[in-house]
Amino acid sequence: MSKIWQENFSNISKNSRPSPIREMLALIRQPGMISFAGGMPAPEVFPVDKFYEGVHILKDDGANLLQYGTTEGYPPLKEFLAEWTAPRMGRKVNPDEMLITTGSQQALDLFAWAMIDEGDLIITEDPSYLAALTVFFNHGGDFIGIPTDREGMMVDMIPEKIEKARAEGKKVKFIYTIVNFHNPGGSTMSVERRKRLVEISKKYNVPVFEDDPYGYVRYDGEHLPSIFSFHDDGVIYAGSFSKILSPGTRIGWVTGPKEIIRNLTVFKQGTDLCSSTITQALVAEYCNKGHLDGHLPTIIENYRVKRDAMEKNLEKYLAPMGATWVKPEGGFFYWINFPKINTNDLFKIAIDKKVAFVPGDPFCPTPGTGIHHARLNYTFSTPEQIEEGMKRLAEAVNELAIPAVH
Ligand SMILES: Cc1ncc(COP(=O)(O)O)c(C=O)c1O
Repeated sequence: MSKIWQENFSNISKNSRPSPIREMLALIRQPGMISFAGGMPAPEVFPVDKFYEGVHILKDDGANLLQYGTTEGYPPLKEFLAEWTAPRMGRKVNPDEMLITTGSQQALDLFAWAMIDEGDLIITEDPSYLAALTVFFNHGGDFIGIPTDREGMMVDMIPEKIEKARAEGKKVKFIYTIVNFHNPGGSTMSVERRKRLVEISKKYNVPVFEDDPYGYVRYDGEHLPSIFSFHDDGVIYAGSFSKILSPGTRIGWVTGPKEIIRNLTVFKQGTDLCSSTITQALVAEYCNKGHLDGHLPTIIENYRVKRDAMEKNLEKYLAPMGATWVKPEGGFFYWINFPKINTNDLFKIAIDKKVAFVPGDPFCPTPGTGIHHARLNYTFSTPEQIEEGMKRLAEAVNELAIPAVH
């Protein structure tokens, strides 16, 4: 790189790290590859016709919709979301408690601007959502990783970690958690742990960021109350249309105490002024016609079949090789433990066999804890591809365990 750029970069820019998954995706784009690596919705479930029906709003109100909007978000969309999310949030939130964001990824970035100073600590599940770790890291944050089991984050480990960090003079700024159908872990936090987390948050005065893009994509069991619904003022909740309607809309929302929402709004002013007015209006039109509620069962049915296909074929091909996992009750991912295998090595063989996944290590705030894990996405493949992919993966595991003699 030329001197004129190198000498003028910010410190953040010099230390920032790219997403290993995005770089890996380039390797995966090969003909014949079965990919469990991404985190994308199935294209066949996008509600193209129903979404297109809303395009008439351009004729009805085009002069407003093609204009800049307020940073806070398009009021009819916020009104819909306040009503629609009320059962999960425990109440209908006020407009000044909600900000529309450009995907929930933007909520993570705005929150990082608002909260993180160089060297601050963030408590996360270990493993956690890679792009959240990346954005927090790029803002100067460091991590305390808490292991998970089938009931989600093992929250009783948190108090000791906070006390230790404070004894060392460090600041623990917030707890970041993906409570429903974790990415990548697949687990869902039990109600008891949600309540316990709120007790810990109050006792130690550490707020919670509840990231919930998958919460409405549940295949089995009952919906659980949000952490937000148990706390008076210490939780900020992020939701998204990406997994329930379309990631291409880039529309998400964040709900929390009005002082924090105001703070995030100020940072959003400097980031993108406002999320696309026309897209917000199209999403609002779609939702207010009742289409979202009509669409969710279609998604859930499509993905449940795929989740079941992955479960069946994991049992058939990978369980006999010692692989273990928690069956996800919803969401997009399996997190597979291969006790004796380094999944970075497995990845190379798997790519040769034309099946892709993401090795576990980049998801782990504590380096090294993910080397025996793999994240597998099932929503983007057909049940037939899932079966074939599992076969290929089992062959790759076999080859790694017993190297071929040439
Ligand atoms: C846990 C989690 N949070 C946030 C996001 C960001 O989603 P979006 O910006 O598309 O709303 C994702 C996307 O995969 C995710 O898995």
